[in-house]
Amino acid sequence: MTLLASLADIVGQKNVLTGEELAPYLTDWRNMATGKAQCAVRPGSTAEVSGVVKVCAAAGVPVVTQSGNTSLVGGATPDDKGNAVILLMSRLNKIRALDADNATITVDAGMILQNLQAAARDAGFLFPLSLAAEGSCMIGGNLATNAGGTQVLRYGNMRDLTLGLEVVCADGEIWDGLRGLRKDNTGYDLRDLFIGSEGTLGIITAATLKLFPQPAAKCTAMLALSSVENAVAVLRRARKAFDTALTGYELMAGVCLDMVHQCFPQQKIPFADKPAWYALLEISDAEGEEHARAMFEAMLGESFEAGEIDDAVIAENLTQSKDLWHLRESITLAQAQAVKSIKHDISVPVSNMVSFIEKTDAELQEKFPGLLNMTFGHLGDGNLHYNVGSSERFSGDDLMKNYDAIYNLVHDNAHAHQGSISAEHGIGAFKIDELPRYKQARELDLMKRIKAAFDPLNILNPGKVLR
Ligand code: FAD
Ligand code: MLT
Ligand code: ZN
Repeated sequence: MTLLASLADIVGQKNVLTGEELAPYLTDWRNMATGKAQCAVRPGSTAEVSGVVKVCAAAGVPVVTQSGNTSLVGGATPDDKGNAVILLMSRLNKIRALDADNATITVDAGMILQNLQAAARDAGFLFPLSLAAEGSCMIGGNLATNAGGTQVLRYGNMRDLTLGLEVVCADGEIWDGLRGLRKDNTGYDLRDLFIGSEGTLGIITAATLKLFPQPAAKCTAMLALSSVENAVAVLRRARKAFDTALTGYELMAGVCLDMVHQCFPQQKIPFADKPAWYALLEISDAEGEEHARAMFEAMLGESFEAGEIDDAVIAENLTQSKDLWHLRESITLAQAQAVKSIKHDISVPVSNMVSFIEKTDAELQEKFPGLLNMTFGHLGDGNLHYNVGSSERFSGDDLMKNYDAIYNLVHDNAHAHQGSISAEHGIGAFKIDELPRYKQARELDLMKRIKAAFDPLNILNPGKVLR
């Protein structure tokens, strides 16, 4: 029997996609990576995922797991050899259990993040992971990349939100680690190894996740700032004033919101005088509207008096708050539409942020005059999307010609500022040659040994994370 016939036996003929049906799964969200594959399959259960992996393992065929296909590092795209099978997770999309007393929910890995947020809300809880791709990214993809997003300050990233996993291993056997325990010190933590492994160690088919109480009130403000130094000063003050009530602190260069307004004119910037930088500040309060508003206004008043903020708009209601967040969350789409860009997803300690930006901006402009700096990101986590783009003075071709040199310059500076070259998007295919430049040799060696132990045939997402 051919491989495709064996796969059809497991998932049903209509769930084996070839030709035109396969095409959408061969390219990434930004059209930056394109590969080839024998087919894509849509299993409908963990048992079917297991069957698919067993057949592929027996044939030595690579398996590339793809969920929402929103990876920004080419992580879910097959290479160009053409022998891979793409494993699509979209049919595994059910809630398995909600345990209110334990404050946990167990879901299939193909559930779309937004649907999980809604299910938690309907049950009176909050599932806090939040990112601009939430309408299409899936829980398995969030887990495989240890996704971060805009609420990490208070709730942590995907690893912090996860208690248990179910995983199909490289030989097709199923590991049932769906435990809802907040304490479990019984040896090596396999769960935390699979989280962030980008489809290279196993296929996540379900997860048990933490739920939180819905906050009684939220306050959101957009701040106009003259410098990153002031943005850091506001963060310091906000941390002190709000402690765990501080749920979001995002930084955006003026040029980012100009681009959003240019691409989506219905989205208005709420200040007449455009500042150099914006920050989006949000708190979530357990007590109520009045309490939240009083502490929010007191902190902002102090910040004004100290000269840290030039102007501020406080959302008066949920609609206004959504509009402010929408501006922030449209930056990635606007950049993809308006310019050619190179993404850097760096993190440095917040204390090194000003120095990192000043030095990197200056060095880039000196070497590549006219290059467009489009920095934004999760300043509260020390994570910047230090993205750079083409401009009238620096063409898209110039940008692509200098891709490696620009990548290295930015990553060298992040490293020199005690930072990381990937805060939340992962290594994928795009950063595979960057990783050995910055990881300690010992660390890389241990990672390679783990990969060999989990996937001795190297069939799980080859060409990603490690060469
Ligand atoms: P995919 O893109 O399909 O896959 C991502 C990786 O995970 C691939 O390596 C894939 O092989 C692997 N994988 C997928 N599913 C599984 C599985 N079930 N088991 C094992 N491996 C699997 N990321 C952030 O962290 N924070 C952000 O704020 C953020 N904002 C974004 C905004 C936009 C507009 C876009 C397009 C992306 C953004 N991202 C962000 C990046 C991306 O959305 C996230 O990394 C997301 O978690 C990926 O989920 P996905 O379902 O699309 O995964
Ligand atoms: C975001 O935070 O919006 C994405 O992670 C960033 C990006 O587009 O680089
Ligand atoms: Zn981000």
